[in-house]
Amino acid sequence: MGRLTGKVAIITGGAGGIGAATGRLFCEEGCRIALVDVTAETLSDVAREIRSAVPDAEILEIPADVGDESAARPIVERTLDAFGQVDILVNIAGIRSYELLADAKAETWQKILGVNLLSYAYLAKEALPALRKAEKGSIVNVSSTHAVNPRAGMGQYDVTKAGILSLTKTLAFEEVEHGVRVNAVCPGLTLTPFHVKRANAAGRTEQDLRTEKVDHNIQKRWADAREVAYPILWLASDEASFVTASTLMVDGGTRV
Ligand SMILES: NC(=O)c1ccc[n+]([C@@H]2O[C@H](COP(=O)([O-])OP(=O)(O)OC[C@H]3O[C@@H](n4cnc5c(N)ncnc54)[C@H](O)[C@@H]3O)[C@@H](O)[C@H]2O)c1
Repeated sequence: MGRLTGKVAIITGGAGGIGAATGRLFCEEGCRIALVDVTAETLSDVAREIRSAVPDAEILEIPADVGDESAARPIVERTLDAFGQVDILVNIAGIRSYELLADAKAETWQKILGVNLLSYAYLAKEALPALRKAEKGSIVNVSSTHAVNPRAGMGQYDVTKAGILSLTKTLAFEEVEHGVRVNAVCPGLTLTPFHVKRANAAGRTEQDLRTEKVDHNIQKRWADAREVAYPILWLASDEASFVTASTLMVDGGTRV
């Protein structure tokens, strides 16, 4: 028996670093998953990798732009058609913006709010009827340490991540009577393809990132995506049955 045997999860941002690691871990633990991401091709690549690592994995690939409100209902409907239930929603999809607030454009605000914050609300709203029916439904929202520790230069992103924490608590309070738990995970520096590409563009390698001593946390290193996936798994599972409205920092002990 896996820790999620018999459960069905929708995972957004499923082709990204943390999303793919979460999808794989959920499959290893017996969960059937709907992996959602914006590009069909990258989604297929990740699903193929998971199937080769976990041969009995049951994965529904759903290419969709979750920032578009109209995408939410078909995502839930397709998952229900394929698997008959939804027990877990993991919102991971995210984009970054590096505009100073003094220069921030309305279209960038709308885009980043749509993907990083509103998609979490839209998906939750559409999944709630099924999550309530599941009786032990669980939502895990991926935020960031910068939700509580904002910095100069990524104000729009940090605002969306702070909003996720507020959304998480309100949803938890509203849904407790329906048996749905809602929690947030705040990752710190996590080594994902996004950061590897940025490092490569600056002339540095993945190995450089793996060996550098970082100042952001007391472990002085980057997390592997799987180290973020494990806390997501725990919060999603019935093992965390008394945990709701919580924010779990997964940050190697970040210095504020
Ligand atoms: N990697 C880190 O250091 C770190 C730290 C804190 C928080 N986070 C958060 O964790 C999450 C995953 O981060 P990651 O590093 O794996 O990033 P990533 O860029 O690899 O993954 C994000 C995924 O979201 C998908 N996505 C973007 N817009 C979408 C849309 N409109 N519709 C559907 N999918 C969309 C992307 O295609 C991508 O696959 C993000 O929310 C990020 O903000 C990451």
